Amino acid sequence: MKILFVASEVAPFAKTGGLADVAASLPRALAALGHDVRLVMPLYDRVLDNGHQPRPAGQITFELGGRQITAGVGRLDLESVPVALVDVPDLYHRGDLYGDESDEGLRFAVLSVAALELCRLGDWSPDIIHCNDWQTGLIPLYLGTRYAGERRFAATSTVLTIHNLAYQGKFPSRTLGDLGLLGHRHLFHQEHLTQGWLGFLETGLIHADMLTTVSPTYATEILTPAYGAGLDGLLRRRADHLVGILNGIDETVWNPAVDQHIPHQYSQKTLWRKEWNKRQLLESLGMPYEEHAPLFGVVSRLVSQKGIGLLPWPISGVLESTNSRFVALGSGEPDIEGRLRWLTDRFPGRAHFVSGYDEPLAHQIEAGADVFLMPSQYEPSGLNQMYSLAYGTPPLVRKTGGLADTVHHWQPAAGTGTGFVFENFDEGGVWWALNQALEAMRDSTGWKRLQWNGMAVDNSWGARAREYEALYMEIGGER
Ligand code: ADP
Ligand code: GLC
Repeated sequence: MKILFVASEVAPFAKTGGLADVAASLPRALAALGHDVRLVMPLYDRVLDNGHQPRPAGQITFELGGRQITAGVGRLDLESVPVALVDVPDLYHRGDLYGDESDEGLRFAVLSVAALELCRLGDWSPDIIHCNDWQTGLIPLYLGTRYAGERRFAATSTVLTIHNLAYQGKFPSRTLGDLGLLGHRHLFHQEHLTQGWLGFLETGLIHADMLTTVSPTYATEILTPAYGAGLDGLLRRRADHLVGILNGIDETVWNPAVDQHIPHQYSQKTLWRKEWNKRQLLESLGMPYEEHAPLFGVVSRLVSQKGIGLLPWPISGVLESTNSRFVALGSGEPDIEGRLRWLTDRFPGRAHFVSGYDEPLAHQIEAGADVFLMPSQYEPSGLNQMYSLAYGTPPLVRKTGGLADTVHHWQPAAGTGTGFVFENFDEGGVWWALNQALEAMRDSTGWKRLQWNGMAVDNSWGARAREYEALYMEIGGER
């Protein structure tokens, strides 16, 4: 099949979170199954700052909402997958990938139309256009309006994957003109247009042939008001076109046996080397190492979704009553950062917060920590808990979304389970799970079993890419 994959971030070129990891690894897994897969993303200044130098690969010019857009096309490769980067410096050279300026909608409408124009440039007819999140939500609508009747797209079906329902790309109704969609108002959510706004994501949810999200549990959660972020009604109406397919992990990047970011590679057989990583991690952060002192780790975007604000109180209780250590890496909301700094100040040498984005340190925490903390309020899939399993670092998670699908509570008597799972989204829930973890650590044989259980789980893309393949076949056949 010919598959066009469009995303607003792709690792290692530009990344803010898990979307970039998935947008890099799923297309490669599909290509490995023999499909012709091509990727499209914006050429942010960040891509250049990260040291990547796209080769010039032509130019596209098109009209959008009365504007003449001229975009250079850059080309990079992810193994056998060609990546086209849409170069409009005015729109994409902003330091950050996302922003809140008034043309934020236009930036990604341009990406969406450019992806379709690139098919013309390459004289290519995709069977599937796989869209991701709100930034690409308008593609199905453009395909059905602007490009209706174009033979190249006559057999093209669309899939829209929801990586996070909370980010919806909402803009004022007057944006319609800039999007070149004034003549198609009737195809938008009518009630919302009347209220003065439109949503890129909801428009995609209405018009894409098939909807997916990144875990089976999140696929059912988002049909309820508690998790639906206002879109549960729309999703319930399309429930027969919505499936949850769990994300996979890229084992060439997140694998302790080959990880170049960590000082001591290890596997199940050489698990004792993990302790050396812990020692080096602590010392690199200026924290004294002590044998048998448990280390709890965090790597996260610091937004309310992730529940990091629940940690300081129970963690301070644990640090007071045991010789444990705590390390967190993340950036985001100032009040969450402030609460993590409070811990650092209160327990110098035993709690440490690194503010910022640091790829090598993220790997070193996965490898060096004893327990990885992910107390999310909601979690569409989550990748970090899967990385933790692979690194023999049992994750402590809340039972929600992809966390519920990938981590099972440790049962010492039976020797089953892969981590620590609590249900109530409050500090008491975290406190309970932390104590379960400390209890489990007292039995070193049981602990090793728990680590091995996690390391034995297959979270690779193999079978999961096949689920996407089956879905593409099914919708291709429907048209
Ligand atoms: P989300 O996409 O919601 O942030 P995921 O668990 O799916 O959550 O993916 C997060 C990805 O971003 C992981 O690869 C993680 O290592 C990375 N990440 C998050 N914050 C940082 C940070 N401060 N520094 C380095 N990597 C980070
Ligand atoms: C989003 C979600 C995260 C998911 C990632 C990739 O950022 O918050 O749970 O793993 O997308 O699908």
